[in-house]
Amino acid sequence: MKIIRSIASMQNRVKEMRKKAKRIGFVPTMGYLHPGHMSLAHQSVKECDITVMSIYVNPLQFGSGEDYEKYPRDLKKDITLSKKAGVDYLFVPSDYVMYPEGFSSKVSVTNVTQTLCGASRPGHFEGVATVVLKLFNIIMPDAAYFGQKDAQQAIIIKKMVKDLNMPIEIKALPIVREESGLAMSSRNAYLSEPQKLQALSLYQALSKARQLIRQGECSKVKIISAMKRLILREKSVKIDYIAIVDAEKLSIKKIIKGKVLIALAVFIGKVRLIDNIKLKVKK
Ligand code: PAJ
Repeated sequence: MKIIRSIASMQNRVKEMRKKAKRIGFVPTMGYLHPGHMSLAHQSVKECDITVMSIYVNPLQFGSGEDYEKYPRDLKKDITLSKKAGVDYLFVPSDYVMYPEGFSSKVSVTNVTQTLCGASRPGHFEGVATVVLKLFNIIMPDAAYFGQKDAQQAIIIKKMVKDLNMPIEIKALPIVREESGLAMSSRNAYLSEPQKLQALSLYQALSKARQLIRQGECSKVKIISAMKRLILREKSVKIDYIAIVDAEKLSIKKIIKGKVLIALAVFIGKVRLIDNIKLKVKK
């Protein structure tokens, strides 16, 4: 596995690979890799000739007062894990390389950014779309792998690629969870043991919603109240949002029918965690 830090040398490698008609798979990450990230790498290795993974904690997607400075980082461990997964190139740019002095462009995807995390983290998805577009231009992949864990992010990237006619296939892979049900996340590293137990309420609430819907409950108010009750059993837990939206447009669903995404963001102490489930509701 080669570690590449400059844009020019990444682009040169890519040019060579494209000449040889290699299919390039790309896995963008912010590092502190866990099995959720690795599932994306494994899929790319399986489906492509060459897999490029990027590790870059993108300052543009963090709001003021968020956790940019203390975001967990462990490049040594990430190198070991990505090597083991069969990644061919690890792209690890610095801030200076990504955003040199005078950088002044921004990518904005509208509509699908209005709800869920887009509503509670203004500017976040502009930061995500900007860095992902830059990475796509540097790596020029045939396919890029994202996690359903960040469901809204995957939809926004799909939309950007479609709107801007980029010849890249966007894949969204299932959420990898701990045995307890907790969705794997680099931010879980912030949680103390008691907080990890409190964090189980996120998936429990989503499972409760699924159960109620399967039993025929169609009142959004009742479903969301049941989820809230479950989560707020824990002290020092705060709900950022719980939303039931159309799984593709991400617009708020008035009636629970068709492809539905139930998504939430919850603060466990100061740690903000997200999770979601997708359901197909017949009626
Ligand atoms: P990061 O949070 O490091 O996640 C990188 C990718 O891994 C994302 O596509 C995310 O959805 C996926 N992922 C994270 N946890 C997962 C889990 N438990 N199961 C499956 N997939 C999981 O998302 C970002 O970084 C950034 O916003 C990025 C796209 C790299 C742009 O900076």
